[in-house]
Order: sequence, then C-alpha cells, then structure tokens
Amino acid sequence: MVKLTFLGHACFVIDDGTAKLIVDPFLTGNPAAAAAPEEIEADYVFVTHGHGDHLGDAVQIAERTGAVVCTSVDLAEAVFNGKGLKVEAGNMGGWIRFPFGRAKFFQAIHGSGAPGTLSSGFVFEIGGKKIYHAGDTALMTDMQLLEAEHIDAALLPIGDYYTMGPEDALRAAEMIKAGLTIPMHYNTFPHISQDGDAFVSALAAEGLNGAVLKPGESLEL
Ligand code: NI
Ligand code: MN
Repeated sequence: MVKLTFLGHACFVIDDGTAKLIVDPFLTGNPAAAAAPEEIEADYVFVTHGHGDHLGDAVQIAERTGAVVCTSVDLAEAVFNGKGLKVEAGNMGGWIRFPFGRAKFFQAIHGSGAPGTLSSGFVFEIGGKKIYHAGDTALMTDMQLLEAEHIDAALLPIGDYYTMGPEDALRAAEMIKAGLTIPMHYNTFPHISQDGDAFVSALAAEGLNGAVLKPGESLEL
C-alpha cells in the first residue's frame, strides 16, 4: 500500500510505510499549501527543478529532518551542495536505487530556474507501485515511452500558462495510460485557474481513470 497525499500546487507526499518522500515542497508562500514546512516529516526530498514553486522549502526541510535531497547533478551543484545536506544527484534517464525502491529522472520540457540546469519529472517505484510526477512540462511525444512503465498514478500539470493545460494534459494521459491520472499545478494562482473535475470527466470520456485531490487529501494506491 502506498499513500499519496497532495499538499497543494505540485507538492505530493508518497509514503509506503517505510519511507516518506516529498516532491516539490513549495509550502511557504503557497496560498494552497495544506501544511507548513515545519510540520513535514520526510526521508527524501525530490526536486524537479529550480523554480521557486517547486524548490520551495526543500533546503529547510532537508536541514531540519535530515532527509536526502534528490535532484539533478546540476541543480544539486547550484543549490544544495556545500550546505551539509545529504544529496543523491542523478540525471535524465537514470534510475537511482534507494532502500524504498528506485526513482528515475524523466525529461520535461520547461525552463529550470537555475542557469545550466534541466527541468525533470520523476518515475517512482515504491511499494510495488509506479508513480509518475511530471514536474512542470509541455506535452511531449516522449510521454508515449511511459506506457511501457505501467504507471499506476500519473500526476500531470493542467494549469496552462507555464505548463501544459487541460487539453494537452488529456493527450498526455492518453499516451501514458496510467491506472489513475491526477491533475496538479492549477488553481494555486489566478492565472492557472482550471476545473479539475472537468479534466477528470474528460479523462473518463476517453476511458481513463482520474481523481481530483484537494490540498490536504490523500488516497491509497
Ligand atoms: Ni517551473
Ligand atoms: Mn511550476
């Protein structure tokens, strides 16, 4: 059993009972945040890219909890190295093995927020499940590659403006064919207002399973 908790924007906690992973912990300054950074317990902090709405409170959470920071080698160098943090840095296409399972850096089409770094998504293998966190990205045909990963849950941005919007996210979901597709990165700010329920209805019309998680809500995979 893997518990997936949405904390707002693109921040999720993945917990298999042996390890807690937090992804893109943007809590301070996030009007939709369902937790304060001081409340977070984590063993691993994954960061997809250096924009403030993803990097967020990663350094502070890692400092306080002793969690391992997992990000690209370049973002590690730009932000995390030299601060006394535990860092596991990889790069696109590579799996990193952990006691809980493994995580792969999956490419994303997006700016990175730190010169010389790339933006990524992640595929997590934990508790017998696979979860794809897309990070911030445009629609890309590379997402077709994820069908063969047999993704149990795909976390896709639908906000538009900075990332793919709901129409392109629907096309992404059709390529990935995850057991469950969950929208993220919308309604945090006025210019990324979207209707998550309408997105889930559009998924259903294509025979795909979707679910809206409100900030603070969890589900079990
Ligand atoms: Ni971004
Ligand atoms: Mn973003």
